[in-house]
Amino acid sequence: MNVLILGSGGREHAFAWKIAQSKNLENLYIAPGNAGTALCGTNVNIGVNDFDAIKNLVWEKGIDLVLVGPEDPLVNGIHDYFLADDVLKDIPVIGPKKDGAILEGSKDFSKQFMIRNNVPTAQYKSFTEANLEEGYIFLETLSPPYVLKADGLAAGKGVLILSDLAEAKRELKAMITEAKFGAASATVVVEEYLHGIELSVFVLTDGKSYKILPAAKDYKRIGEGDKGLNTGGMGAVSPVPFADDAFIKKVEEQVVIPTINGLIKEGIDYRGFIFIGLMNDKGEPKVIEYNCRMGDPETEVVVPRIKSDLLELLKAVGEQKLNQTTFEIDSRIATTVMMVAGGYPEEYAKGDEITNLNLVEGSIAFHAGTKEVDGKVVTNGGRVIAVTSFGNSIAEAVSKSFSNTEKISYKNKYYRKDIGKDLM
Ligand code: AMP
Ligand code: GLY
Repeated sequence: MNVLILGSGGREHAFAWKIAQSKNLENLYIAPGNAGTALCGTNVNIGVNDFDAIKNLVWEKGIDLVLVGPEDPLVNGIHDYFLADDVLKDIPVIGPKKDGAILEGSKDFSKQFMIRNNVPTAQYKSFTEANLEEGYIFLETLSPPYVLKADGLAAGKGVLILSDLAEAKRELKAMITEAKFGAASATVVVEEYLHGIELSVFVLTDGKSYKILPAAKDYKRIGEGDKGLNTGGMGAVSPVPFADDAFIKKVEEQVVIPTINGLIKEGIDYRGFIFIGLMNDKGEPKVIEYNCRMGDPETEVVVPRIKSDLLELLKAVGEQKLNQTTFEIDSRIATTVMMVAGGYPEEYAKGDEITNLNLVEGSIAFHAGTKEVDGKVVTNGGRVIAVTSFGNSIAEAVSKSFSNTEKISYKNKYYRKDIGKDLM
């Protein structure tokens, strides 16, 4: 098969690394990719939202399957674009159509979907300019901290958690009437704060059946001890010790099955990954959010733990034959440590040379923000390289990741040295 992966992060390098091992693969293309994906296949310099250029590429290279990494092209309707095109309509796209991607694209929609389908989640109400005053009254009924969420996509920045009621009211007004997060915050979801420990569960579905992938925990803040600004994710661990079999069974019964059945009942033919952000509240799962894609850096620990042929699974998703596949998981623990550019998630430099990647031993260096310039690998984003390792314990896995992050070198490198520590 000829496969095209869309995206350019660590998630896409992990997908490319895994798919490159498939016996069913002929040629692998990644658009636009990074210096790491170039080691697994051929990068093509096309943006993920340039649907016409993607169409030409798919046609020219005889692509048999397209795997979409990030949410943007899904929310923008790349799957619908393929289905509406005579040339492309029979080529499977892994990732939902617009009607499924809206689970991530609109928090108001996803909350309504959860309530309609009895998926446990925080109580909430949505507000716009028309009922802003009611928003203030609703806030008064909640106890702090207050959770405000821009309805639309806001590059992971659209959630505010505030301890002060007056501030929460001010921010609600700023989000709605001053477009604090642009058009994304014209509608705002205000919800109850959930207590507990957070984790992510990933599901692959063909619209009929599903496979539950390994769970993972992400480290979102820039600083050690989970302090400081939010990032895309500074590291991940899979599996998650507090998500034992009994908890995952509850997640399956209370969240996964009602979600899949809800999609079917509502006529949403969903083929792709569902990323379920969950709170474990004293052993009870509550959904924080859905995403219509895999997580990054969670993919860098989840995908290496899949022993089965990922391309075979994706092909089965396209053919709605996922229930006929076998699905095997490596029982070892995987950790990843994200190396970022100094200054991230605020201002940071790009174009600094990365050296000593050849010294990495016993770990996999998944490239995130990198590119090749004149035969050199240079930094090209805030998150630079995710160093993934296996171990029989979190301590063993993460110590391998750290010994390799120490070797990889570039100007102002930074990474959290406490990944996994809270779980040991
Ligand atoms: P989101 O953009 O929806 O992933 O939200 C960002 C982060 O805010 C989540 O990963 C949680 O850590 C936190 N969060 C979101 N909603 C809630 C909630 N209702 N209660 C507690 N924390 C929340
Ligand atoms: N690591 C969180 C995300 O991919 O959204």
